[in-house]
Amino acid sequence: MLKIAVQKSGRLLEESLSILRECGIYVPFGDGRLKTEASGFPLEIYFLRNSDIPSYLRDGVVDLAILGTNMLAEYGEGISSILPLGFSRCRLSIATLRENNLQRIGDLNGKRIATSYPVSLDKYLKENNINAQIHEISGSVEIAPTIGLADAICDLVSSGSTLMKNGLSEMEVIFQSEAALIGRSNYSAESNAGLIEKLVFRLKSVLAANKSKYILLNAPNSSIPNICRILPGMKSPTILPLAQSGWSSLHSVIDEQQFWDIIEELKLAGAEGILIIPIEKMIL
Ligand code: PRP
Repeated sequence: MLKIAVQKSGRLLEESLSILRECGIYVPFGDGRLKTEASGFPLEIYFLRNSDIPSYLRDGVVDLAILGTNMLAEYGEGISSILPLGFSRCRLSIATLRENNLQRIGDLNGKRIATSYPVSLDKYLKENNINAQIHEISGSVEIAPTIGLADAICDLVSSGSTLMKNGLSEMEVIFQSEAALIGRSNYSAESNAGLIEKLVFRLKSVLAANKSKYILLNAPNSSIPNICRILPGMKSPTILPLAQSGWSSLHSVIDEQQFWDIIEELKLAGAEGILIIPIEKMIL
C-alpha cells in the first residue's frame, strides 16, 4: 500500500484529488478524516498541512506527496520531483509598495523583506550580492509593507490580485512553481518503487491526454499528402476511405496548444467537417 500526502486545505487540494480521480483513483473526502483509503489503487491518503508535508515525506511516514515545487526549494533536502503535474502554476516573487521608489533588485540593499520563504529568498539575495534583512512571517505577508513591518515582500504570486489589492507591484521573479508528484530522492531503490511507477504511469497517461486532442476530418484524396504534412500526429494519421469516392477521413492526435493554428492550415489545404474531440487517457 502506497501512502501519499496532499494538502489538507489550500489551492492544491481540489486539483490533487481531481487528477487522482482521472487516474481511476477515488478518494473519499469531506468527512473530516485526515487519513483515508482510496479505491481503484492501493493508496492511503494523508491530508496534512502544506509546510509539514516535506518532513513527513523525508521521515518515511508517507511515500509520496502532491506539493508545489516551491516547497522543494524551501524544504527540499532528501526529496525531489518525480513528475510535474502542470497545475497550480505560480511564481515566487519580490514585490514592493507601488508608491515607494524601490524598483530594481539593487534598491533592496539595507532593506527589510518579509517572507514565508526565507531559504529561497536568502539564496537569491546571496546570488545577487544583496545585503537585506529577512523578516520571516508565516502568512498574510502582503500586509507587511503597509503596516511598516518591511520594505518589501517575497511571496507566491499567481493571478497577481493579492499584490494589486495591497498596493504592491512585482519587482523580481525568483522562480516559477507548479504542482508536482514529490518523492524521496532515492525512491527508485525502495521496496514499493514498482507501485510508485504504476501511479506515475497513470498520471503520465492523464497528463498526455489532457494536453492533446483527437482530430477527425474529411478531405479529397488529392489533398491528403499536404494535410499529412500539417498534422503533427503521434505517428502518421489514420486514413479511411469515405463512401463518397475520391474522399477520405483522416484521424490524428494534435497538441491542444497548436490546434487553432493547424486548423486554419488544414482548411486552406482542403479539409472539411473537422471534429476536435477530447482524449480521456493516452498511453504512450
Ligand atoms: C498565496 C500567496 C498569496 C496568494 C497569491 O496564498 O501566499 O497570498 O496566494 O495569489 P494571487 O496572485 O492569485 O492573488 P494562498 O491563498 O495560497 O494561501 P496562504 O496564505 O496559505 O499561502
